[in-house]
Amino acid sequence: MSAAGEKGFGQGSEQLARWAERLFRPEDDLLRQVRERTVAAGLRPIQVGPFDGLHLEVLARAAGAKRAVEIGTLAGYSGVCLLRGMGKGGLLHTFERDPATAELAAETFGRAGFAGQVRIHVGDARDTLREVDREGPFDLVFIDADKAGYPAYLVWAEENLRVGGMVLADNAFGWGGVAQEEYAGSHSAEDVEALKLFNERLAQGGRFRATMLPTEEGLAMGVKVR
Ligand SMILES: C[S@@+](CC[C@H](N)C(=O)[O-])C[C@H]1O[C@@H](n2cnc3c(N)ncnc32)[C@H](O)[C@@H]1O
Repeated sequence: MSAAGEKGFGQGSEQLARWAERLFRPEDDLLRQVRERTVAAGLRPIQVGPFDGLHLEVLARAAGAKRAVEIGTLAGYSGVCLLRGMGKGGLLHTFERDPATAELAAETFGRAGFAGQVRIHVGDARDTLREVDREGPFDLVFIDADKAGYPAYLVWAEENLRVGGMVLADNAFGWGGVAQEEYAGSHSAEDVEALKLFNERLAQGGRFRATMLPTEEGLAMGVKVR
């Protein structure tokens, strides 16, 4: 478990996790406050873990992403990480179903100094993604909303990323369920099934060269090749 208390890091070793946190400092005061404001607003703190956030920032930076899409905003934790990686001139379109949550995220982006670099699209992403079809192609798409939607979001990413662009998706291990023939855990079996389809298409669909970063949740990552 990380010091932030949500998602593990360090291959199960507390000592390694503490060491990595001290050295790499994945979470600053602003991000910690986003987590705290999420809870204070009565929302579940289901944002990415601190190291996952750092991965997003570094990957966005490595990809040279300037135009990105995030599906699943919550209070803006991962959005701030992506925007930090994108730097000046970056523009993030982020999609959130719940209007009150979107307001909380808007406050976060304002506090982080990114108000002018983000567009929050409110509503079900399966409908609202089409609002930005014409703004692409995009450099990066990060998927972190309803798991049942992952296969459809991947198809959208295939169609709207540039060749060389990057798709990232959190929770891709499906809480271990993707490796089980018949999932018997406490999450939704339908969600696990959708994550299996998502991974199969990402890994073998021919549009991406993909891998899995073995974070606690599984951070799937693919680069569009055609
Ligand atoms: C896991 S949280 C996102 C966490 C965020 N990426 C972060 O790390 O800070 C998932 C978010 O997706 C939103 N969501 C779920 N289904 C959605 C949908 N179909 N369209 C848009 N947003 C959705 C939820 O309301 C929730 O805020």
